[in-house]
Amino acid sequence: MSHANLVKHFQVRPAEPRDCPDILRLIKELAAYEEMPDAVKITETDLLRDGFGSRPCFHCLLAEVKSQDERPLAAADIVGFAMYYFTYDTWIGKILYLEDFYVTEEFRGWGIGTKLLKRLSQIAIETNCSCMHFLVVVWNKPSMEYYMRRGASDLSTEEGWHLLRFDKENLTRMASEE
Ligand code: COA
Repeated sequence: MSHANLVKHFQVRPAEPRDCPDILRLIKELAAYEEMPDAVKITETDLLRDGFGSRPCFHCLLAEVKSQDERPLAAADIVGFAMYYFTYDTWIGKILYLEDFYVTEEFRGWGIGTKLLKRLSQIAIETNCSCMHFLVVVWNKPSMEYYMRRGASDLSTEEGWHLLRFDKENLTRMASEE
């Protein structure tokens, strides 16, 4: 579907509990884009419990497209999202961590990503974060360039940091070590 002649109207808003099915759909789209479609184990129930309870583990901004008349623009109105949460660094304090950032292919280039980044930057500043961290898979050149054009620095090449993981098996082993 082409939207070339349409007024590119969208809004960015915080996610609500009713949005969990759309959030999961976009998480799966991003995982497919990252060539790991089977890696998504999370369910709508998990998202509802973890994001919308009394102590949310994450926050989410959604991009919603609106048509000028009553006809729907796309199969779903929610076409992009940014999931984030706060983490802490002993040297610099609060950090906004951007977990997922995605816009459905047919709506890319509308400025939705830029608007999401603007809102994330405002939230980071309002909440006294020193910076925003995020991961990019090494082959995702378009995204790497997208972030670099906006001033991002690559901590792996510039500072030599590696992201490590203890999986459940290792955690279970260490947890039960005498
Ligand atoms: N598709 C993609 N990019 C296009 C485009 C199109 N049809 N038309 C133009 N562009 C260019 C724009 O000129 C703009 O360039 P700029 O950096 O000079 O501003 C950029 O691509 C798109 O900017 P914008 O419209 O603000 O962003 P977006 O809404 O397309 O979202 C991403 C950006 C990265 C979220 C989106 O491309 C995406 O979801 N990519 C796939 C998933 C991904 O890589 N996510 C990040 C994981 S770390």
